[in-house]
Amino acid sequence: MAVSSNLSSSAGVNHIPPQFGQADASMPRSVLFCRSTLQCGHFILAGIPRGICHCNPRPAPMQAGTGTAVAHSCKAACMIAGMTNRLIRPRRLRRNSILRDLLADHSLGTCDFVLPVFVRAGEGIRHPILSMPGQYQYSPDVLLEELSEWASMGLRSVLLFGVVDPGEKDEEGSHAHDPDNAVCSTLRMVKRAGLELLLMTDLCYCEYTSHGHCGPLAGAEKAGRRRARGGKSADAANPPTVDNDATIHRLAQQAVIHSQAGADVVAPSGMMDHAVGTIREALDEANFTDRAIMSYSVKYASSYYGPFREAAESPPQFGDRKSYQMDFRRTAAEAVREANIDVAEGADIVMVKPGMPYLDVLSRVSASVPVPTAVYQVSGEYAMLKSAAAAGWIEEKPCVLEAMHAFKRAGASFIISYYTMEMIEWLNA
Ligand code: PBG
Ligand code: ZN
Repeated sequence: MAVSSNLSSSAGVNHIPPQFGQADASMPRSVLFCRSTLQCGHFILAGIPRGICHCNPRPAPMQAGTGTAVAHSCKAACMIAGMTNRLIRPRRLRRNSILRDLLADHSLGTCDFVLPVFVRAGEGIRHPILSMPGQYQYSPDVLLEELSEWASMGLRSVLLFGVVDPGEKDEEGSHAHDPDNAVCSTLRMVKRAGLELLLMTDLCYCEYTSHGHCGPLAGAEKAGRRRARGGKSADAANPPTVDNDATIHRLAQQAVIHSQAGADVVAPSGMMDHAVGTIREALDEANFTDRAIMSYSVKYASSYYGPFREAAESPPQFGDRKSYQMDFRRTAAEAVREANIDVAEGADIVMVKPGMPYLDVLSRVSASVPVPTAVYQVSGEYAMLKSAAAAGWIEEKPCVLEAMHAFKRAGASFIISYYTMEMIEWLNA
């Protein structure tokens, strides 16, 4: 703004020409902009009659307008609004670490993290998951030992996933309802051991069904009969999919079974319509009015779940999950709608998943719902960070911390992450 530099000195810092008046709280918030040929961008508060910009050799009238003040050194006008370019120096607040810490708008604590864990039936199992370095499938006995150690290190919450031997899988995923399955056994063992841990469980069927979808398939019987008559079992407009209403009633049973075994929070992850309301009703009827529902309200059909499907041995055997999980090509409005539906049905916590590629969605959802919003930093995000760090391409700890702060900044109340134990270590260091 060289054009104004020789003009600025005429209006002293402390001198406000009378035509600019004094700023006062009762003045309207709208502003007047200088429309002179100099385009100086000066503004004064409206409500001052006949504002004149003195930057122009021939004083130019100010007009109502909108926009951001371009700050330079017309001190009289700018002082009214409290701004000049020379006074504005954002770096002042970054000068030292005390100032930066003082002004940090969010922070991370060990209580902000939930660790997802994979449990499978058996004894003495500690089976590494290759695409998720540092993560394992555990049998309940080994997991109990680990959990008690992790709890002593500061772990507060876990999210349990069951891994099921192929022989236990069927079309309906019946093993999910076995009160002696690995998830239920672990819940009972942790409660019996008196560990001070919040126990969350994933409610779904993909780990339990032979076809790997998140519930029993719709029209399986009808399609079979049609096939027997020589008809087509499925066509392009009606691809096979999960039977929504059969699944939600089963999810409600699964929620009750998990609650009986000791789950504090149940987390339906199948993106079935009306799952939350159906589960809430069943829990209340079974007198589990105190158990919370964390809904995977906003779950995209994402390729970032790849490593998880190896970990949980749960990939769909045909097709994909696009007829129930969300399409990432749509706007965040759909996410807001999904979350609001779940809140209306009684969700205590909503969740957005995956995390980092969906920060815009997290931000919109957390600002739109009156309940806490969780975020799930999924297996693919973990695998990317781990592999880049192992290759020496990124520095692991600062990159992970940066991602975690991004979640907080976008409005996450807490973070479900495979990095939970590392975060606890780093935060306690
Ligand atoms: C199961 C489920 C999945 C994840 C959480 N619950 C996988 C999927 O939907 O295929 C993904 C978690 C991760 O990638 O870490 N419904
Ligand atoms: Zn599933």
